[in-house]
Amino acid sequence: MWFPVMPIVGIDDLAIYVPKLYLDYKDFAEARGINPQKLEYGIGIKKMAIADTNQDSACMAANACLKLMQRNHLHPEDIGRVYVATESSLDESKAMNSFVIGMLEQIYGEGSFEHAGGIECKFACVSGSYALYDNANWIRAEENNGKAAVVIVSDIAKYDIGSSGEYTQGAGAVALLIRENPRLMAFDQKVASTTIKNEYDFYRPFGKETPLVNGSYSNLLYLISVRKAFDSYKEKAIKSGLIKLKDGESITDHIDFFAVHLPYRKMGEKALAYLLRHEWRHLPRWKYVTKEVGMQEPQPKDARGTIESILADTEFMKADEQFRRGFMQTSFYNEVYENKMATSLEASAIIGNLYTASMYMGLRSLLEFEFKKGTDLEGKRIGFGSYGSGSSAMVFSGLIQPQYKEIVKRMDLDEDIGPRQKLSMEEYERLHRNQRAFTDSVIRAHNEFVLVKLGGTTADKAGFREYNYVS
Ligand code: HMG
Repeated sequence: MWFPVMPIVGIDDLAIYVPKLYLDYKDFAEARGINPQKLEYGIGIKKMAIADTNQDSACMAANACLKLMQRNHLHPEDIGRVYVATESSLDESKAMNSFVIGMLEQIYGEGSFEHAGGIECKFACVSGSYALYDNANWIRAEENNGKAAVVIVSDIAKYDIGSSGEYTQGAGAVALLIRENPRLMAFDQKVASTTIKNEYDFYRPFGKETPLVNGSYSNLLYLISVRKAFDSYKEKAIKSGLIKLKDGESITDHIDFFAVHLPYRKMGEKALAYLLRHEWRHLPRWKYVTKEVGMQEPQPKDARGTIESILADTEFMKADEQFRRGFMQTSFYNEVYENKMATSLEASAIIGNLYTASMYMGLRSLLEFEFKKGTDLEGKRIGFGSYGSGSSAMVFSGLIQPQYKEIVKRMDLDEDIGPRQKLSMEEYERLHRNQRAFTDSVIRAHNEFVLVKLGGTTADKAGFREYNYVS
């Protein structure tokens, strides 16, 4: 009997694009009357990338994709699918990847991508992860005719001026090359796990430029959703034999690095703490952990209650905050944090929330800074915790491949972002309020795609967007 061998599929390379304008946390804190230490340590932000007037998620996506193609000497005929995952849509019908194809064809020739396919995907910040898996399965199913897929995650995170979300803004794109026998990371098979629920933690109704957010609810929902998806990942990983647990072990002991959705740096730290508490509380090590914390883990009055009832249980929430802070000070937490997560958070602190692209910028950060530390990454497993409001979580993992150094050694975040220009608060607010015409950009574009025409003079051209590559 013949059994098909499933091809090994994963991320072969990735390229990033970050706009050149940024807002400094000290200027921001002063203008809003916030203690800068809250932003630096409480949120974990120092610089937020801000899009210029002539930039949108489509041109950032095209810029990241062009870098990926040029660096890998790829031609359109090597690519069979171009997907864009975003929550910064430009049109209700016309998909963002069609704009991207239009831009790329300015370089590679009209019609050069005609043989390919793809769609725009939406589910807040998690859709890029679904897009990766759908494309990995397209290759596994051998529908790809030897071609690679490109998944681009691109977003502008913009919140209302004066809101508590305002210090979790950012902008940027990551383009990921998905192919068979990848040089960078192969996806672990049969373990990707998801959760889905109808929620209103963060959403942006049609026509509204900024989201409506229930901040504390969204934080807790993120933690619970990722934890539930992680439970299902654990079940699959054990059942499939991917991970074998010995007595007293936690599945987190078998994951070498964690990359999670990063609306802000501190959220990554909190997500790790939540996951470790969940995974460790039934293990023998827990008594040593609680001894170091100096208190027992508190229990909510209604352990099977809703998120609302847990948030309303103020006594529990206060005690739980105290326990979490204590837990995050323990040597147990810090060992895992320093060795398995810290490097993935560095980019977030200087770029901000990138919605769909945040976790993948975190992956990029992890690879570059672990390599610079001299860590041998070959054969190491990265566990991903992806979250999208509304809400859905996806947990999956991948193994770093023997050829990874070829890709990682050329990673340089400073060089990739390029020289940046700091915005004054006045300039930032004018940009935020869309008070500058799109033709009046703060920076003159150089070697990149930008928006050059918006809408036509006649009704049938309304909503037209034209982009040019500016050299
Ligand atoms: P906030 O009002 O700034 O929260 O809102 P806070 O007052 O609790 O302060 C945050 C932290 O700063 C706290 O630390 C304070 O103690 C600390 P923690 O208790 O968490 O450890 N702090 C200080 N630290 C040092 N020195 C000081 C100081 N003062 C206070 N002087 C919140 C924060 C994230 C809720 C808000 O920014 C927000 O609503 N952001 C937008 C929503 C969001 O990012 N939610 C995250 C989960 S949902 C998600 O990730 C999905 C998303 O990306 C969208 C999508 O899926 O598309 C958003």
